[in-house]
Amino acid sequence: MQAMDSIVGNDDLKKQINRIFMKAIKTYKPGVNYKHNTGILFHGVPGVGKSMIIGAILKDYVYPYELFIHKELNKSTLTSSKINKTAKVVDDLRKQIKNDIHHIYILEIDEADDILKRRTHNRHYAGELTSSMLKLIEGIDSPDNKIVLAATNYIGDIDYAIKTRFNMVIEILPPSKEELKLMIKKLIVDEYDICDYSESMLEIWAKHAKGFTGRDISKISIELDDLLWELRNVNSVTKLGFEHINMSIAKRISYNSRIRKLAKEHTIEGERE
Ligand SMILES: Nc1ncnc2c1ncn2[C@@H]1O[C@H](COP(=O)(O)OP(=O)(O)O)[C@@H](O)[C@H]1O
Ligand SMILES: [Mg+2]
Repeated sequence: MQAMDSIVGNDDLKKQINRIFMKAIKTYKPGVNYKHNTGILFHGVPGVGKSMIIGAILKDYVYPYELFIHKELNKSTLTSSKINKTAKVVDDLRKQIKNDIHHIYILEIDEADDILKRRTHNRHYAGELTSSMLKLIEGIDSPDNKIVLAATNYIGDIDYAIKTRFNMVIEILPPSKEELKLMIKKLIVDEYDICDYSESMLEIWAKHAKGFTGRDISKISIELDDLLWELRNVNSVTKLGFEHINMSIAKRISYNSRIRKLAKEHTIEGERE
């Protein structure tokens, strides 16, 4: 199975991604400038699958092809041991990309607000890093041999100039009710061979799970693994299985509201979470 297939929903996006990468794979010619998508920035609340989408792109389109070189960019891969040498690390990478026209560089920047932060007057370090990242992404004097894949929970924190360099800025939304049904079916019902479930039960579970993200459903699935493993080989798991699912969803609802309450109490930092 393709990694992209394990992502529920986002069908148009998946098609677009396929087009972008298949075009690069089929038409890229070293040294010949051609029009292509140079960057996608995913944003949205935590747990909606942004990192999962980037991971699936890497697995399905990047790793299998020699054309691509994958670089993960974050504070630890960019910060050299010598203080203030970060700009040089970024600049060296820019030169490497510029000089290597035989490959397309896939620059992965997850939690992008960390290194593409808005420049302000009093954040000297972030400003320096952001400026050199802008230069890297912009590629004024280099051939178009890179694609940036970035994700953030805090789109408002990303530097404005950098945001405008992406061809696509895409909000990943929490799942709709239909998508929740699909997720529950895939990650719980099918995963644990819960037979005898009915369409109306899926409907009720999805209704209770209103506002959940994919991460919530995947957490419930992991929790159920502990509860259901001993029932695996028993034919009549269903009834107990249903109760476990109901309970896990209810627990998750109260967990989420506790987290929300805590976040409210903890000023701005908390609210962002
Ligand atoms: N659309 C989805 N389809 C299937 N699973 C999902 C989806 N969205 C989230 N998940 C599950 O939630 C987990 C966390 O998602 P993640 O990509 O880390 O979220 P984000 O990066 O947006 O915070 C994933 O590893 C996956 O198990
Ligand atoms: Mg993430």
